[in-house]
Amino acid sequence: MELDAGICKDLDLSTGSVAGMTEYAHPITVARFIMEETNMVEMHGDRALKLMELYREVRRENLVTPPKLQRWAKMLAELGAGGGYLEKHHQKELRVLMEHPEYRRTPKIGTVGAVAVDSRGGTSAASATGGYWLKMPGRIGDTPAYGAGFYADRNGAATATGVGEYAVRLLISRSVAGRMKTGTAQHSVMAAFREFEGRFGKDNLGIIAVDRRGGVGVYHNTEGMGHAFKTGRDRKTTVRISVRQGGT
Ligand code: GLY
Repeated sequence: MELDAGICKDLDLSTGSVAGMTEYAHPITVARFIMEETNMVEMHGDRALKLMELYREVRRENLVTPPKLQRWAKMLAELGAGGGYLEKHHQKELRVLMEHPEYRRTPKIGTVGAVAVDSRGGTSAASATGGYWLKMPGRIGDTPAYGAGFYADRNGAATATGVGEYAVRLLISRSVAGRMKTGTAQHSVMAAFREFEGRFGKDNLGIIAVDRRGGVGVYHNTEGMGHAFKTGRDRKTTVRISVRQGGT
């Protein structure tokens, strides 16, 4: 069980990220610590946590819950039966898991991302994850990778979730931000998706974005992606649990 996270602000191009963190449920707090309290930008998660412990109180805990353990056991029982995430996106890692049972680690998964713009157009982005079920120990995905899992500049901010190996190859969050120089957040997300799907097909990615004028962009080509946004104009929070392919 290894957690990754990354965070950045466009104002001073500050960024921090951690990867492979165990025993602490808040990798984004540690990434923010790296961003704000050090001159580094990336750290191994457990080393970063040790560093943060010098200055902050840290409650280490076992993050494996009984429901997660049950699901993990079921996935192990079905390993190699066909049709799963590993069969689709990680065939080579699947082979390692089949040949080396000691690599079948306990899970902690799910990605959460956030983007924001302030009243002066300053943007920021953050993302945290446990990766995917049965990921290889030591594997690092897009979430702590600046420009891939998260990115913010003067045009806007974006974060991604999905198959990290694909998101890294196209620096997908940077790609969305670059398009927001001229396009709205939604337009830019869709344009980035067109390029992404041309390379990697569907059922593999979700993106949220905000442009410097406060426009929101959301799209996913997966079965579901919960998302919520709040704008300054109406101060209402809109929450969607989207369970079809699409976005706002
Ligand atoms: N997008 C999360 C990961 O691939 O780790």
